[in-house]
Amino acid sequence: MAVDQAKPGATAAGAESAEALGAGLEAVGYLPSDTVSLVSYLAIQMGKPVLVEGPAGVGKTELAKALARHTGRELVRLQCYEGLDEAKALYEWNYKKQLLRIQTGAAGDGQATDQWDSVSDNIFSEEFLLERPLLHAIASSDPVVLLIDEIDRTAHEFEALLLEILSDFQVSIPELGRIEARTHPIVLLTSNDSRELTEALKRRCLYLWLDYPAPERELEIVRLHVPELDEQVAKRLVEIVRMVRELDVKKPPSIAESIDWARTLLLLGAKQIDRETFEQTLSIIVKHRTDLDLVAERVGVKLADRGAGPAGA
Ligand SMILES: Nc1ncnc2c1ncn2[C@@H]1O[C@H](COP(=O)(O)OP(=O)(O)OP(=O)(O)O)[C@@H](O)[C@H]1O
Ligand SMILES: [Mg+2]
Repeated sequence: MAVDQAKPGATAAGAESAEALGAGLEAVGYLPSDTVSLVSYLAIQMGKPVLVEGPAGVGKTELAKALARHTGRELVRLQCYEGLDEAKALYEWNYKKQLLRIQTGAAGDGQATDQWDSVSDNIFSEEFLLERPLLHAIASSDPVVLLIDEIDRTAHEFEALLLEILSDFQVSIPELGRIEARTHPIVLLTSNDSRELTEALKRRCLYLWLDYPAPERELEIVRLHVPELDEQVAKRLVEIVRMVRELDVKKPPSIAESIDWARTLLLLGAKQIDRETFEQTLSIIVKHRTDLDLVAERVGVKLADRGAGPAGA
């Protein structure tokens, strides 16, 4: 396990500029906005974690995956949930193995005190440690991308646990001492903004707000994921999704829904999005009972009936 001094930047992903990094991300199938490229570039150069916030399905998790693909690094992912604790996130002692070790020691001859001293030193060594994602990311000899996904699902106390890692890239284990990162991970934390994160955590991170993309960008993303879909249909799809987002719906459709809708329309062989097609496939982009009615009423009526040709928005 690594106990050397951290070397921030020594293993940075090496892009020369934000534009170069943006191009690199595009090459691995992620179409970033200029802000995304810039913040990611700064994070790598400055060796700082990025807190990525934004609505569901706008590409927060995918950004971390794309950074890992682009840099050729392993993606270490910690999926957060309510009740996540140190033992699942950081490290745990391998109690079974420790017990076995103690039993093996006890089976020997009678020098009980001597044996206990050597056994107790021994069982709190790295051999008996179970690495969880955070420790794995810190201790890895090759630099990794660490994704701490949906941090807002955890309790405030969990954030305190992260502070040491995020500012000093080190972990303190009482029985073992300090483990410092040998290589500098690229760290992304994502949040759906379901609760306010602590100031202490925010202060340690660069901040990136990911929102729904501009229409041209969303069209490119849809075309990237579903290239077989007719371009005019894809364009119309993006326009309609935008109209739906402007309504006061409980859950506006995200990029993930746009992509799913594009796949659906392709499967159905739709040549245009008329009112019937829209109503048939509405549940792909709208997933609340009350939203369904609202959207059918406010957007459906603006679409042409089958055979009547495309209607203006
Ligand atoms: N800029 C982009 N370029 C290419 N694909 C994208 C982009 N943004 C989002 N996507 C696609 O949209 C989908 C949803 O993205 P992702 O799962 O990363 O969203 P998320 O923000 O993490 O959502 P959640 O908050 O629900 O976890 C994925 O299939 C992803 O590939
Ligand atoms: Mg996600």
